[in-house]
Amino acid sequence: MIKPSISLKKFISLLKDNTHPALEFLLSQLVVSKDDIDSYSSWSEENYTRNCIYLNEEVEIIVLCWKPGQGTPIHNHQGQKCWVYQVYGEIEEQRYEPNENQVPLATTKDIVQAGALSYIDDSMGYHTIKNVSNENAVTLHFYAEPFNACKVFDVKKQQYVKKELSYDTKWTL
Ligand SMILES: [Fe+2]
Repeated sequence: MIKPSISLKKFISLLKDNTHPALEFLLSQLVVSKDDIDSYSSWSEENYTRNCIYLNEEVEIIVLCWKPGQGTPIHNHQGQKCWVYQVYGEIEEQRYEPNENQVPLATTKDIVQAGALSYIDDSMGYHTIKNVSNENAVTLHFYAEPFNACKVFDVKKQQYVKKELSYDTKWTL
C-alpha cells in the first residue's frame, strides 16, 4: 500500500485550519523537497542559519541551513516538543543524558538521511546536531509550542547557560 503524503504547502494550509488532525499525524505524512525550501534558505560562513517560515502559538517551523562543519552546542528544548525533518544532505545527531551531577554524557549517535523524521523532548535528554559531511545540508524543525530560548551546556565552564534564539530570516507562509 502506498503511504499517503502531504506537501509542505498542504501541511501549512492544514495548520491554519483549527480542526486539523494531530501534528504527529500530519508530520508522519510530510514529504519536503529541496525545491520546496530553497527560497527560504540562507547561508553564512559564521554559523548555521535559522529561517522561520511559520509561527503561531501552536507551532514554529524553521528552515535550518548547515554548511559543512557547522553545528549546535549541547542543548535542551525548554519543555517543548521538537521534530526534525531532514530535507537534504546528511546530519549527525548526538544524544546526551545528564549524569547525577547533571553533566551530559554522550549516548546514541545517528547519521540522519534525507526524508527521515526524528523527535526529541526534554524527557529524552539533550542533543547536538552537526553537518559532518562535505556538502550543505538543510533540516526543517517543528517546535510545539514555540520557544525563544534554551539551555546550552558550556563545555569549558562545565555548566548550563541560557541561550536566546533568534532568526536570520523570517517569512510568512
Ligand atoms: Fe534541538
